[in-house]
Amino acid sequence: MKERIDGLRAAFNEALAKATDAAALEALRVEFLGKKGHIAELMKGLRDVEDKKTAGQLINTLKNEVELAIANAETALKEAEIAAQVRSAKKYNPTLTFGRETGSYHPITLATREVVEIFETMGFTVENYDEIVDDYKCFEALNIPKHHPARDMQDTYYLENGQLLKTHTSAAQNAIMKKYGAPLRAIFPGRCFRNESTDACHENTFFQMEGMMIDENISISNLIYFMKTMLSEVFKRDVKVRLRPGFFPFVEPGFELDINCEICGGDGCPSCKNSGWLELCPCGMIHPNVLEEGGIDTEKYTGFAFGLGLTRLAMMRYGVKDIRDFNSGSLKSLSQFKSR
Ligand code: DAH
Repeated sequence: MKERIDGLRAAFNEALAKATDAAALEALRVEFLGKKGHIAELMKGLRDVEDKKTAGQLINTLKNEVELAIANAETALKEAEIAAQVRSAKKYNPTLTFGRETGSYHPITLATREVVEIFETMGFTVENYDEIVDDYKCFEALNIPKHHPARDMQDTYYLENGQLLKTHTSAAQNAIMKKYGAPLRAIFPGRCFRNESTDACHENTFFQMEGMMIDENISISNLIYFMKTMLSEVFKRDVKVRLRPGFFPFVEPGFELDINCEICGGDGCPSCKNSGWLELCPCGMIHPNVLEEGGIDTEKYTGFAFGLGLTRLAMMRYGVKDIRDFNSGSLKSLSQFKSR
């Protein structure tokens, strides 16, 4: 029995040395450890052996050796495979780009550019203006003295030095009148802030575009003409608008220019506070007090002003239902607007 076992061990070692792939190892495993393999045969042969205990131990030792040797060979084979893969893999190339995403413009940027272009072709200059202003520019110069109830509508964020985040682009009117004098045609888009609770059509941070035209004989007809032209250019089709009286201390008369809600088609939805209309562009004839405060001769000149809600325009233009999506930083929604 012992010789048989030693012979098998030698045969196994020889075959193992030649087994260089997984299939060969598996064949060897079946040949020695399988149901009808050499080890099973040896076990069967035990019947005819006298010293069963010693012979059984020898068979077990061989069995353990074979199992261990095959397992080690399999591990070595896998390691060699991985090493070969690593060796053949392409080398790291720092200049390669891995599916790099390109950015897109924010929808408000796109809407602003569009409106700016339209007004530029009508001879308006484009002004850039501060976001932090003083009480005079934001309110007093606009005929809104301290304690005027109109201030209730425009609570904002105050700095320790008394300055504030501007609540409307109208805050630049005074400085621009002083800078250019009359006649004057200017637009000034900008970010505005209000300390108020948010909903689908109100945000604490939003964009407006103010416009002013001051010249001799400017009337409400000029105002209506410019507003109509702008809207038909932006929407490239007729949109339903309505003009109704509105009160703003810095214009007289003042109007609310509402647009039919493009989200619900006028039926009413959260985006338009269920009214079917959205206040898009309040406007009016500049109040003489405001002109005078800006150093304009009110005997000679009149003018109109408007405050276009750029964020609301972008909502209507692109069908964005919730104003809060704009500041959400959600790439999923923002990346839909490709660069232009
Ligand atoms: N500044 C006003 C607001 O944000 C909007 C406004 C109304 C601007 C009438 C104007 C105007 O220029 O004429 O509530």
